[in-house]
Amino acid sequence: MPPPRCLVRGSINVDEFFQVQEFVQPGQTISSNDLVKRLGGKGANQSVAIARAGGLVDFVGAVGSDGLWVKDELKVAGVNVEGMLLVKENTGRAIIQVNAAGENSIILFKGANYTSISPQKIHSDTTHMVFQNEVPLQSTIEFLTSAASSNIATVFNPSPMPTRNELQSFPWNQLTWLIVNEGEVSELCTMLDLAVPQQSTSPNKAAQSLVLTLSIRIPSTNIVCTLGADGVIAKFCLFPETVHVPAAQLSGPPLDTTGAGDCFTGYLVAGLMKLGSTATISEYLQVLQRATKAAGMCVEKAGAASSIPLGIDVDVRMN
Ligand code: ADP
Ligand code: NA
Repeated sequence: MPPPRCLVRGSINVDEFFQVQEFVQPGQTISSNDLVKRLGGKGANQSVAIARAGGLVDFVGAVGSDGLWVKDELKVAGVNVEGMLLVKENTGRAIIQVNAAGENSIILFKGANYTSISPQKIHSDTTHMVFQNEVPLQSTIEFLTSAASSNIATVFNPSPMPTRNELQSFPWNQLTWLIVNEGEVSELCTMLDLAVPQQSTSPNKAAQSLVLTLSIRIPSTNIVCTLGADGVIAKFCLFPETVHVPAAQLSGPPLDTTGAGDCFTGYLVAGLMKLGSTATISEYLQVLQRATKAAGMCVEKAGAASSIPLGIDVDVRMN
């Protein structure tokens, strides 16, 4: 049997970080103290996390000629980039001002990420496919549909959130895993017109209630909801209740949560890839635990893709 293999259909960006005292105001010209350019984009970050976690991963996306270096970085991180397209467009770009207080202000240009790519040349060993929402949703749906017809497990992290119409017509019955954060699960319930029972006792109870309500609307999809420092809750199709996995204990104060969600998703996917299709709840819980450990380690370090830990280092922390 060939090893499990994951295709990520997603975004790749050049992230440009400008270090400023205060954000630039209308009519103002300011100087930046520093400029750092890094590989970014949720698709690229999640691919790096899958590779570092030990999974075999093919990235499908597009860059322009100004983005060949980010494609190279992705390759160096262990991601197969042979299926990527080079297009006559600017590479996706994020212009990020970071002020003295450490806050961000971001301009995003989709650029080459909005190239429409059809599901051709999918490796025949593909067992999993992963999607975010930084590429055309139509392309995501085409890949999702082709995965469903080939018995490939699918994972969708709907970030940024699709529109109400897009969510209402989304083929949820073809999706195996949905990964959302607290804000996203709430937005999803609203956009799908779901009435959520009031649960004011604690934020976790409120998120639990949202996840349970959503699970009734999309019963064939497993739901994983991340809660920042409160860890994750999950609702598996196999099991009627939600389960909670606490966040990792950090070795110090949280330094930079950028990329923690993508790190979590990548480790979750890499864990699912090892399990096969007939896993037990306790095996799923172990996968979630490793993913929360990895995400915690990502929070302890500055940076997004660069702060995603290696699987061997995560395993040291597990014991
Ligand atoms: P997103 O950035 O997508 O909103 P979250 O903030 O929910 O995602 O974080 C994703 C995961 O990262 C969490 O489930 C948790 O495991 C880990 N994480 C985030 N913030 C912290 C923190 N302060 N301490 C420990 N783990 C954290
Ligand atoms: Na980080």
